[in-house]
Amino acid sequence: MAVLALSLALLTSVASAAKAQTSTHHEALRGHQIWHLSGEVGTVALELTQKGLLDMLDPSRASGKVRVPFQSLEEARRILQERGVAHQILTEDLATFLEDQERRTKGSTKSESCDPNACPKPFSDSYMTFEQMEWFLKRLCESSPRASLASLGKTSENRDIWMVRLRPKMDPEEDPEGDPEEDAAGAVWIEAGIHAREWISSAVTLHLLEKLLQDTGDIGSLDAYVVPMVNPDGYEYSRMHNRFWRKNRRKTSTRADCVGVDLNRNWDFHYGAGASDNECSEVFMGTEPFSEPETKALRDAMTRVKDQLKLVLCLHSYGQRLLYPWGYSKSDVAPYTDDLVREGNAFVEAAQRSDNTSYAVTNVAAGLYVASGTTEDWSKGVLGVKYTYTLELRDKGEHGFLLGPSNILPCSEEVWAGLQALLKKII
Ligand SMILES: *[C@@H]1O[C@H](CO)[C@@H](O)[C@H](O)[C@H]1NC(C)=O
Ligand SMILES: [Zn+2]
Repeated sequence: MAVLALSLALLTSVASAAKAQTSTHHEALRGHQIWHLSGEVGTVALELTQKGLLDMLDPSRASGKVRVPFQSLEEARRILQERGVAHQILTEDLATFLEDQERRTKGSTKSESCDPNACPKPFSDSYMTFEQMEWFLKRLCESSPRASLASLGKTSENRDIWMVRLRPKMDPEEDPEGDPEEDAAGAVWIEAGIHAREWISSAVTLHLLEKLLQDTGDIGSLDAYVVPMVNPDGYEYSRMHNRFWRKNRRKTSTRADCVGVDLNRNWDFHYGAGASDNECSEVFMGTEPFSEPETKALRDAMTRVKDQLKLVLCLHSYGQRLLYPWGYSKSDVAPYTDDLVREGNAFVEAAQRSDNTSYAVTNVAAGLYVASGTTEDWSKGVLGVKYTYTLELRDKGEHGFLLGPSNILPCSEEVWAGLQALLKKII
């Protein structure tokens, strides 16, 4: 009897060891599928997203890709059928897909590394961990008298929301005691990483920081406020557990399986339109405006410098679009729309010359879908900043959020070219 019990115990432990070996950090996406929708996709896709049944991966209707969680496959299929929207399965099992992709690329990616004492460059061919980003930011600010680093607040998992301030380049003829804010030509605000899975946005922003600091032209005479990683909790979760994670990681309620708030629906300007009050939805707006530590921190920091702000640029992916407000309404036209479009075109032309990547200047609500409670709408509607944009980076849907790291450098170059052209028009 004792022998039997022992051998049973042995068998069980061998079996669970084998299971542990085959399970990977993609388990959260086991059974999830990617579908391509065709037909009258627009309203039904947003509706199902608000209900928490779908995740719109590509809001620009070009590719119509959605992620369907395992538990909502049947209900989503039924509702889409009723509404006359056809679906085609592109990926049967997202976890297997990601595991295969990892196996294929193993060994082909360069290994870049850095440590707390030596992290002088943002990575060009791989995505940094949040900790590595912090090491780089600290190093950057220690090594330049123009750059300073401030924590705007802590996330629910106690990570810092870092902001780099770049002061205007000192004119040697100028009185060194003079107040730089008085002489400054204004300021630009750059935000990235509010959506966890949009890794390219923060990677590009780290390179933009270097370029801003090295600029010897007019742009160096601006103040710049740069928040390269708004949502570090979500980012680390997307790296370690769920590559398609979008929201932050705060537990808002009793439902343990529905965590997090869409931080780009949590701002207090036409709060709620195009968002969802369902905490299981990918576009959950939170329990009230500014319910989240990340949006509170940004709101307070932006409000302090609002009179200086000439441009607010929010980096996202993907779709290659430069989006202008409003997002909350298809019919209301934002003040200075003509200027937003014209200067936006300067961005697009310069970006295209850099690496032949085409961006389109598009209104959020008319071109994509109604989305309110965004940084872009709030900074224009409440702070009154004339130029506010959301920039959807590479690509147009081929790799989407899984964009390969070889894009980091060329994408940074084209955004820098676009940003310079845009700022030259604005200042
Ligand atoms: C630029 O891209 C377009 C397609 O988007 C292509 O037809 C064209 O040949 C490209 N030009 C260069 C110089 O690579
Ligand atoms: Zn986004």
